[in-house]
Amino acid sequence: MSADRVSAAVPAHYNDLSAVYAAFGDMLQTAVRKRHDDWHTPTLGYVGAAGAVCQRSVVLRRAETDPLRLTFHTHVRSGKVAALRADPRVSLHFYHRHAKVQAVCTGTATLHTDDAEADAAWSRTALFSRRCYMVAGASGMPLDSPGSGYDLYDVPHDRTPDLEESERGRAYFAIVRVQIRHVDWLYLAMNGNRRALIDVDAGAVNARWVLP
Ligand SMILES: Cc1cc2nc3c(=O)[nH]c(=O)nc-3n(C[C@H](O)[C@H](O)[C@H](O)COP(=O)(O)O)c2cc1C
Repeated sequence: MSADRVSAAVPAHYNDLSAVYAAFGDMLQTAVRKRHDDWHTPTLGYVGAAGAVCQRSVVLRRAETDPLRLTFHTHVRSGKVAALRADPRVSLHFYHRHAKVQAVCTGTATLHTDDAEADAAWSRTALFSRRCYMVAGASGMPLDSPGSGYDLYDVPHDRTPDLEESERGRAYFAIVRVQIRHVDWLYLAMNGNRRALIDVDAGAVNARWVLP
């Protein structure tokens, strides 16, 4: 082999479109389970006030592939909730350093605040994590001094709240479910990159290769 030729093992999805969607689904499931996985914390893109382009990190809490829906949790008073109520179009950007895969998912967000789905998600949250929902103030609220807001709202900062005190956080807890319609998949490879565009509509998955 000449010195300038690169040879490397390639994954199943390298030349197989159906394997791309399968790999995408597997990576999402792993990301939900493993908090250190690169895909565990995608970047949410959405439209803010006056058409501003906004991005925030979120934790991927649930991934369903049929239909393709991704879920994260949030505080009802966060700025992004007001923005999503006004314009539900979103993107979720994932990049996995080791798998060398970027996936940009676009779709529509639906907010669940006081229904059975939000109740079920709330019941699965860790007591420790409930502290951020026990803060009644809105993120972005001006403070006179550096702070988490825990002292302002009588939230324990040095211990886990007990179940009873944590329940006041329920009023500020929401889940955001994003129905994904389109996935832009990019795999980086020594021998040449691969890019696939995937449309997902009513259970039908249509994928095609494009120039990376
Ligand atoms: C790694 C990481 C994960 C985060 N996960 C979430 C999340 O799942 N939900 C959320 O509302 N905010 C999350 N945040 C904080 C948001 O990015 C954002 O700063 C916060 O929600 C304030 O939002 P706002 O600007 O909409 O008011 C996370 C931040 C980081 C750095």
